[in-house]
Amino acid sequence: MQILPASLKQAAQLARLEASQPLAAGWGEDGFKGEIPLPCAVVLTAQEGNEPAGFICARYAVDAAEIVNLAVHPLFTRQGIGKKLLQAVLQRLKALGVTSVTLEVNEANAPAIHLYTRAGFSVLDRRKAFYGQQDALLMGVNL
Ligand SMILES: CC(C)(COP(=O)(O)OP(=O)(O)OC[C@H]1O[C@@H](n2cnc3c(N)ncnc32)[C@H](O)[C@@H]1OP(=O)(O)O)[C@@H](O)C(=O)NCCC(=O)NCCS
Repeated sequence: MQILPASLKQAAQLARLEASQPLAAGWGEDGFKGEIPLPCAVVLTAQEGNEPAGFICARYAVDAAEIVNLAVHPLFTRQGIGKKLLQAVLQRLKALGVTSVTLEVNEANAPAIHLYTRAGFSVLDRRKAFYGQQDALLMGVNL
């Protein structure tokens, strides 16, 4: 498994992968086509042969960044891929001069919260009923 920058021609594959995980951001193919070329975007894939098994997307401006989308295909979860993607994007963002990274996560999304907490993120704030009945947790880490 290799972590690589996404290319525009992977937009359809990434959209299919994203659709396999309802808690991902739901961008669809057009969303990935718009995101991948952005100068402020970092989009990484975990490649298993020709197929992406997971992806992570962040946007940054000067010294601050946000993780905006993340998914690992259900066939590949719990094998450390989410952790590798998160570590790789944080490393890349640090190299770009970013010193703080935030994200929003549904309070009911235990796997993602566990992953972020293990990577050093802590809860900074709570947005009430951001996801219907559930709150969003704003989490952050300093690099
Ligand atoms: C969250 C997600 C990316 C995790 O990917 P993954 O490849 O399974 O994660 P890893 O295997 O690297 O696991 C990382 C940690 O989370 C834990 N974890 C993963 N899935 C878990 C689950 N279902 N329940 C409890 N803990 C879980 C692992 O045990 C591991 O913990 P450890 O470091 O203490 O051993 C994946 O479940 C996913 O795509 N979820 C749907 C989309 C989503 O929620 N995106 C984030 C929106 S904010």
